[in-house]
Amino acid sequence: MIAGVSIPRGRSQGPSYQDYLDVDSHPVPGVLRAQSQPDLGMATLDATRYTGQAFFDLEVTRMWPRVWQMVCREEELLSAGDAVVYDIVGYSWVVVRTATGELRAYANSCLHRGRRLLDADARGLEHLHCKYHGFRWGLEGGLLSIPCRWDFPQLKDEDMRLPEARVATWGGFVFLNMDPGAPPLAEYLGVLPAHFARWRLEDCWKAVHVAKVIPCNWKVAQEAFMESYHVIATHPQILPVIADANSQYDVFGDHVNRNLTAFAAPSPHLGQSGVSDAEVLQQMLALWRSPGVQAPSNAATPRAALGELNRRAFARSFVGDYAQVTDAEVLDALVYNVFPNFSPWGGFAPNIIYRWRPQGRQVDACVMEVMILKRLPKNGARPAPVPVHWLGAAEPWSAASELPILGAVIDQDMGNMPEVQTGLLASRTGLVHLGRYQELRLRHFHRTLDRYLAAAGN
Ligand code: FES
Ligand SMILES: [Fe+2]
Repeated sequence: MIAGVSIPRGRSQGPSYQDYLDVDSHPVPGVLRAQSQPDLGMATLDATRYTGQAFFDLEVTRMWPRVWQMVCREEELLSAGDAVVYDIVGYSWVVVRTATGELRAYANSCLHRGRRLLDADARGLEHLHCKYHGFRWGLEGGLLSIPCRWDFPQLKDEDMRLPEARVATWGGFVFLNMDPGAPPLAEYLGVLPAHFARWRLEDCWKAVHVAKVIPCNWKVAQEAFMESYHVIATHPQILPVIADANSQYDVFGDHVNRNLTAFAAPSPHLGQSGVSDAEVLQQMLALWRSPGVQAPSNAATPRAALGELNRRAFARSFVGDYAQVTDAEVLDALVYNVFPNFSPWGGFAPNIIYRWRPQGRQVDACVMEVMILKRLPKNGARPAPVPVHWLGAAEPWSAASELPILGAVIDQDMGNMPEVQTGLLASRTGLVHLGRYQELRLRHFHRTLDRYLAAAGN
């Protein structure tokens, strides 16, 4: 066990996240040493941020059209004519790979009478073709043909280009932004590219993609994954192996925040001598569904033992050299959020990716997606990305066998999310109170959201 150290004011009992890094068996990268915890005040939130139509409508007009949003993985748009439909609060875009290899995003709305140009993702399109009357556009966005062209003398071909959004890529992800005046993606992402430079999500492939409609506001769902404070009440079974209350929370600029939560270390809620190293080891292996596996016995801590186990396993299975990778990078929840709705996990463990979007224009329903990126296999081939596995309303996340550990944990979170929505509607104070530190990321998110909502609408 790591000995207790001085407790910073306003923090939990027990070692800080940085104390775990101090005894990591390998050199720790600087990005994990960074700390950025400004005081964002103690303001309450109005419940109507999650329940009110007027607030939702402001998000639709002032926030969503101005932010960089993750659309898909680049490997889903590998070849010319590959297209992905991206829907967000009634806006719909077709992101397509052109013949010259560029990525373009076109408004998914026919310039004739408005039919969506594409109903679903497509592969190898030669052009964009409206199924209603047959208007056609090239992959570069220019008009190709109109059936009975003589009947539209008022239309000039050059005025019939498909409207575009901006497209950019980072980490193997494709993003779009509807606002021609928005900063470039690289600027918008702030510290993120530097933090993930070592973790190279571009060298991964999408091995898991599960989605489900959840009956709650999109922010209620997202905020269930922005702090470890809820572990003690919602996921008590993992307390022996998760340093929950002593997680580190950081915010960077307007758009990026993170929590760093140590695994293979017991919760401070269990006290300094509550769990032995042997129990931590055994429970982590059980969590990973690897109960028979032998961890290296000469390691100084459970984290060092399990870190070594993972380094060896990754080196056996994936391309890349893991010899200098830290225990933290192969064990911990290094959970980043990019405003407004994209959450990539850092490190080298198979990287979890979350995304939350309103379901259409419903205040009280959203789509939550869970993806897992895996490192490219040793043979260097890039496996094809998996299609989305949609769960039905009655299906638990644990029904997705591709989420062996995570599914059951998310099901516990599911026990809260719809109940938060109905509880917020029933609130008699109309107020939501946030912790000063452990809910810092929520404060940061709402501060940035307010900045977008305060700017003049489109
Ligand atoms: S609506 Fe598209 S061709 Fe008529
Ligand atoms: Fe949770």
